[in-house]
Amino acid sequence: MNSARKKAAENMAITDVIIEVVDARLPQASSNPMIEELRKFRQRPCLKLLNKADIADPAATKAWLAHYNNVPGMKAVAVSFKRQADMAKVVGWCQAMAPGRGSPDKQLRMMIMGIPNVGKSTLMNGLLRRRVAAVGDEPAVTKSVQRIEINNSNVVLDTPGLMWPKIEFPSDGYMLAASHAIGTNAVVEDEVAYFLGNLLLKRYPAMIASRYGFDINGLDGVGLVEKIATKRAWRKKGGALDIEKAAMALLKDYRTGVTGNISLETPQSREEMIAAAKVAVPVQDDTSPETSHDRAADDK
Ligand code: G4P
Repeated sequence: MNSARKKAAENMAITDVIIEVVDARLPQASSNPMIEELRKFRQRPCLKLLNKADIADPAATKAWLAHYNNVPGMKAVAVSFKRQADMAKVVGWCQAMAPGRGSPDKQLRMMIMGIPNVGKSTLMNGLLRRRVAAVGDEPAVTKSVQRIEINNSNVVLDTPGLMWPKIEFPSDGYMLAASHAIGTNAVVEDEVAYFLGNLLLKRYPAMIASRYGFDINGLDGVGLVEKIATKRAWRKKGGALDIEKAAMALLKDYRTGVTGNISLETPQSREEMIAAAKVAVPVQDDTSPETSHDRAADDK
């Protein structure tokens, strides 16, 4: 059994409520399947926090909340850890999910889980109202498990960003890379930018036209990146378009929310993506717990 998974299973045994932080712009792609599997096995309730809702598409977030709030044992809330007020509500939500817990005799034990870069450290810092963990945009900044008392009634456990090695759908890999949950050296940025460009042109054409100030008709992801470079006169020595710079600009605008409120997936788009993938490649049933155990790994 993989060590990260083993550690997570052990920690879950001494936890009352799992706090899973996901990126509201790609809630399912940014959810490690191991977390749901383990918490179901341990029968632990899960507070699913769709963080970065401030830069996600509100309509998509609403659809995801309806979807997750139908899952037994799960409460989903859209939040932004840029707002202290949102973080201040988290313990109360957890207390409501674990009646009888939250006193000095019976401390409420919460565990923060999630993949890299979704905001776990920011939440930890916010809960404690002091800086306890490195907060950074590079995946895998959070290295070790921390158990910290918020007060004598509430304890929180912060776990390392958990990534799994075999991402089932290629589009999930691209979405994770676009959102910086997968490190910059793990994938070719240009290809990620082309993927993002295609997706944004399809789902948010008006936003893209307004952000970059040119006609986007007939463009695909490659064309979009090229046109950004052309419009901004970004050229390398010798005169060729600086595609890498334009690709980075498109990614950065999305990552920081400058482009607008964007979500990369909705429950419906995900259903369609999975259906299309099944038609394209008949997949073997490798969803047994044993197989999933083997797949789980940490991000280091
Ligand atoms: P992690 O522990 O899960 O790896 O994530 P971490 O807290 O380090 O957060 C990753 C990045 O996401 C940080 O950006 C953080 O500020 C940002 N972030 C966290 N929550 C939110 C949110 O609700 N909305 C938005 N828009 N961003 C959020 P950074 O650029 O590395 O740091 P900073 O300069 O923003 O502090």
